[in-house]
Amino acid sequence: MKVLSVVGARPQFVKLGPIARELRDATDIHHVIVHTGQHYDRDMSEVFFKSLRIPDPDVNLGVGSSSHGHQTGEMIAKIEDVLQRERPDWTLVYGDTNSTLAAAVAAVKLQLPVAHLEAGLRSFNRAMPEEHNRVLTDHCADLLLAPTKGAVDQLDAEGLAARTSLVGDVMTDVCLQVAAHIRTVADSASLPAAPYVLATIHRPSNTDEAGRLRLIMDSLRSIPVPVVLVAHPRLRAAADRFGIPLSGGRVEVVTPLAYPDLIAAVQSAAGVVTDSGGLQKEAFLLGVPCTTIRSETEWVETLVDGWNLLDPQLTAVAESAVRPRPSSDRGHPYGDGHAAAAVVSELRSRRPSR
Ligand code: UD1
Repeated sequence: MKVLSVVGARPQFVKLGPIARELRDATDIHHVIVHTGQHYDRDMSEVFFKSLRIPDPDVNLGVGSSSHGHQTGEMIAKIEDVLQRERPDWTLVYGDTNSTLAAAVAAVKLQLPVAHLEAGLRSFNRAMPEEHNRVLTDHCADLLLAPTKGAVDQLDAEGLAARTSLVGDVMTDVCLQVAAHIRTVADSASLPAAPYVLATIHRPSNTDEAGRLRLIMDSLRSIPVPVVLVAHPRLRAAADRFGIPLSGGRVEVVTPLAYPDLIAAVQSAAGVVTDSGGLQKEAFLLGVPCTTIRSETEWVETLVDGWNLLDPQLTAVAESAVRPRPSSDRGHPYGDGHAAAAVVSELRSRRPSR
């Protein structure tokens, strides 16, 4: 069987990690990795392949940054050429980026089977580009690999139950594996002495308007302990454009961290402040209180007992960023860390006959 993975943006490299490892051990499966080039900076891409020991991509389409339509359209055209050459049994697409949608559309138009990893998540916020990508990808895919019971219920509500399978969350696999191998925080990038807060901001709704970005930076500066701000290129570009300083006061800006360094930095943090989906969940898995600068989350299980708090209006960031850990048991809503094995088993058993 041939499985062709299409990835392009940083969170997809993290999800690919455990899948690539599982497929490497599967002697009956040939795995082809296609990188669209959506993320191209070394520390947004190559560093993840190296630190998660993912084989180099077989193909890099070099698409790069552009408007949504141009970026997605160029990807569709280039992925179609690869798919015609490779004719995989499954095209495996990951998450909710423009690379996800492009690969799903290219494959389905060639009547090649598509499996969507991380299916069924919803923010119900139609202003988010990721929400368009999730809904459209789920409705055109042949196999919907859902990470949580809530995602299964959502797919059922949209009439997609027959194509759905609950596999667990592959980001839990990789987060727990990596966390188990971090011995001390000294293993990681240089960090201030504890306590500190780890922060990331990159969503267009938070970066692309000067007033909003200024408010966010003011609220980070109001946190009463050092803040390590891991700056995504979109954040840096927006701050430069608007003339808003990112560092200053207790805020120290660092370049994007390799995945093991990020996990080490979360593990030792007093709190996380973010608008990233993945980081909300990593904080939850590692037992670190999270404050999310968004009005909603796709990962609703993280909200239980206040492990994750939504603060879109930035009303209480200074206090919530350093609040104590809740005492409750978080349970295992994201699976047991063996989702990648379940994914491969589903790909085998649901392989369409050709
Ligand atoms: C994309 C995903 C988002 C994911 C995020 C993780 C979509 C619609 N969004 O958002 O779901 O959470 O990745 O990072 O696909 N840039 C660089 N170097 C890079 C990559 C990007 O400088 O290696 C700059 C570009 O100028 C670009 C901007 O960052 O304009 C944003 O990149 P883009 O791929 O458009 O979206 P992200 O905001 O990264």
